[in-house]
Amino acid sequence: MKKIATAAGLAIAASLLLSACQPAATTAPPASDGGSAAPEVGFAADATIGVALPQKTSENWVRAEDMFNEGLSAAGFNKIVQFADNGVSEQQSQISAMVESDAKVIVVGAIDGSQLGDPLAAAKAKGAYIIAYDRLLKNTDAVDLYVAYDPYRVGELQGEALIEGLTAKGCNPCNIELIAGSADDANSTPFFEGGMSKLQPKIDSGEYVVVSGQTSFTQVATEGWLAENAQKRFDTLLAANYASATLDGVLSPNDTLARAALTAVETAGKPAIVITGQDSEVESVKLILEGKQYSTINKDTGVLVNKVIEIIKGLQAGTQPTPNGDPLDNGVIQVPVVYLDPVIVTQANVCTAYEGDTVVQKVLDESGKC
Ligand code: BGC
Repeated sequence: MKKIATAAGLAIAASLLLSACQPAATTAPPASDGGSAAPEVGFAADATIGVALPQKTSENWVRAEDMFNEGLSAAGFNKIVQFADNGVSEQQSQISAMVESDAKVIVVGAIDGSQLGDPLAAAKAKGAYIIAYDRLLKNTDAVDLYVAYDPYRVGELQGEALIEGLTAKGCNPCNIELIAGSADDANSTPFFEGGMSKLQPKIDSGEYVVVSGQTSFTQVATEGWLAENAQKRFDTLLAANYASATLDGVLSPNDTLARAALTAVETAGKPAIVITGQDSEVESVKLILEGKQYSTINKDTGVLVNKVIEIIKGLQAGTQPTPNGDPLDNGVIQVPVVYLDPVIVTQANVCTAYEGDTVVQKVLDESGKC
């Protein structure tokens, strides 16, 4: 990475980066021009960094909170790390307060990435650098970088795992059902579309049958990523469609919803199914060891948080991050991305997939199965 020492160097590097990643119309003036819209590059070593997290809808967010607190303190920054348990308007106020506190970088894991336009515009106007964390920020030009495990790739891996599990099961045709995440989360569509890119050809050929007929994103989305919503839908769906038919498999976007569907299947007294997941939550890793959940995804939160902190330290020193994927259209601009690779985990690799993740490794060590 190039270290930028002078104002002229900054202007050249910024314009090169922007011309590589964004249409000319969105090019911001470099900070050395005193332009209010330029992201801040190079700031005090003890500057304030804001981290706005969504609701605790899965373990990864809870772990991210601790890791951001520890990592930002260790790096010498003053930090504000907050959840928005009460929803979008709370998250909007939290970001506004971070702007008031003169945060130099604001990291946002959005509840609804389309609803933060105003506070993000205020952050941008003050020169803060805005990082979309895990979930893309949409319909705004006030986002500088998206850092995540590629969500479409997550969906593809889930689709492939479901096919692998159903092939091993030997059903023909296979009866499947689909679950998607919350419609307000920018990740839910790429997860679902990635999965469907693998499953749709098999549905079209008749190898797989979605017995409920619920195949559109809207029909299968789970409001708020809440387990109770997925479980309620599955209770109804099983009673209405599987009195005589056998459910073979389920595409689930994460572990929380996979466990909800498994509970509904068990409660209805139905036989075991092949089901996917994501997040490597402790309870789901145990279910994989027991053979009750087919797969999960390892998106190591520590690695993602450390990547973001490394980027923030670079910005502090005056170095722009290096995007590593195709920029993403967020409805207004092309957002540069830094992607990490998600890893599929099944019984075949569960024992070796979590080196470096002490929480999951402990579960594996104590299981007596690894
Ligand atoms: C995250 C997933 C998580 C879900 C629910 C998504 O945006 O990428 O890892 O399971 O939110 O919290």
